[in-house]
Amino acid sequence: MKNNKFSRRTFVKASSATLAAMSLPMFLTGCSNTSTEAPAAAPAPGNAPPQGRPRPAEASISNPWEAGSADSFTRYYFDTLMVETRYMDADLPSTKMNLFGETFDTPIMTAALSHQNNQEVKGMVVYAQAAAACNAVHWMGMGEDQELEEIVATGAKTIKVIKPHESNDEVFRRIRHAESVGCFAVGMDIDHPFNGRGGYDRVYGLPMKPKSTAEMKSFVKATKLPFVVKGVLSVHDARRCMEAGVAGIVLSHHGGRVRYSIPPLMALEQIADVVKGKMKIFIDCGIVSGMDAYKCLALGADAVSVGRHLMPLLKEGVEPVANRMKAMTAELAGVMAATGVKSLKDMDPTVIHKTLF
Ligand SMILES: Cc1cc2nc3c(=O)[nH]c(=O)nc-3n(C[C@H](O)[C@H](O)[C@H](O)COP(=O)(O)O)c2cc1C
Repeated sequence: MKNNKFSRRTFVKASSATLAAMSLPMFLTGCSNTSTEAPAAAPAPGNAPPQGRPRPAEASISNPWEAGSADSFTRYYFDTLMVETRYMDADLPSTKMNLFGETFDTPIMTAALSHQNNQEVKGMVVYAQAAAACNAVHWMGMGEDQELEEIVATGAKTIKVIKPHESNDEVFRRIRHAESVGCFAVGMDIDHPFNGRGGYDRVYGLPMKPKSTAEMKSFVKATKLPFVVKGVLSVHDARRCMEAGVAGIVLSHHGGRVRYSIPPLMALEQIADVVKGKMKIFIDCGIVSGMDAYKCLALGADAVSVGRHLMPLLKEGVEPVANRMKAMTAELAGVMAATGVKSLKDMDPTVIHKTLF
């Protein structure tokens, strides 16, 4: 991968066997064919990587789904990046973030989840309340109008992500609804049009369809809110989003929905090089610590989202979720301090050392 921004120092040379173990299963595996949402297991709470998942290089070739899964490969990629320390002239940092005219206490946001309500707990509302308690940006995925209204009523600055419905009337209706209830921004997850079996997907019976640049432009024009596109993993899509006037993109493989996806962090540098500050760059998938967040921010992301890592806490209430988000922000501040970064705009990719790629 092209890397013109930071150290190419290589501490560990990848053997050809290692690389083959990573790439072949990825090549062999097909798509996930879920028609609802990411089914992958939640990572264990705390900083540890998800338990029980072999690293790609160690995984058995007879289990290509595991060896090549986007989630395990994403985790592996995070862990191959090392951070150098810079103490001279360093000080305690600020993690404040400005986004679309508002100031937040942290660049660590929630992710666009859905389906978190059950009979005991309205998990989606708890999630929003926790984001509000942290003065963090909140994201919401699919869901009905009333659920969005309840979420926005918590006071959380909410970005609503709309599915790529075949019917643009339905998309426009949902954009209007998001605007009318006071969402902070609105957008679309473009990575949900196909079912992985050579057809278009259906979500709760409604047909999905990929969107053209012209259609995206019409969504952008239809609202005063910033319009974001989620599911970008290529310079190709990033350029088209810029052409459409999109305000921000989320680098995401939707929690491994497509099993062979490249880690979002791996696509980040190339995309950031092309975007050059013209759109905001957000990133999610597998972020479980302040250190993970730091690596994304150092390499060019404006903010990061955390989904499955927080999901197990939703049933425990607002405080545990908010505490975990705050702890991640504190971890981020700790790494910023030790690397001489005083604010988010001072992030410097040259602190990152690649050990493998
Ligand atoms: C239960 C669940 C529901 C999700 N629903 C949506 C959704 O409706 N829209 C969307 O764009 N992404 C959805 N996602 C994907 C997340 O926004 C996010 O991209 C993914 O979980 C990766 O981040 P994570 O590793 O921090 O969980 C969902 C993920 C999960 C686990």
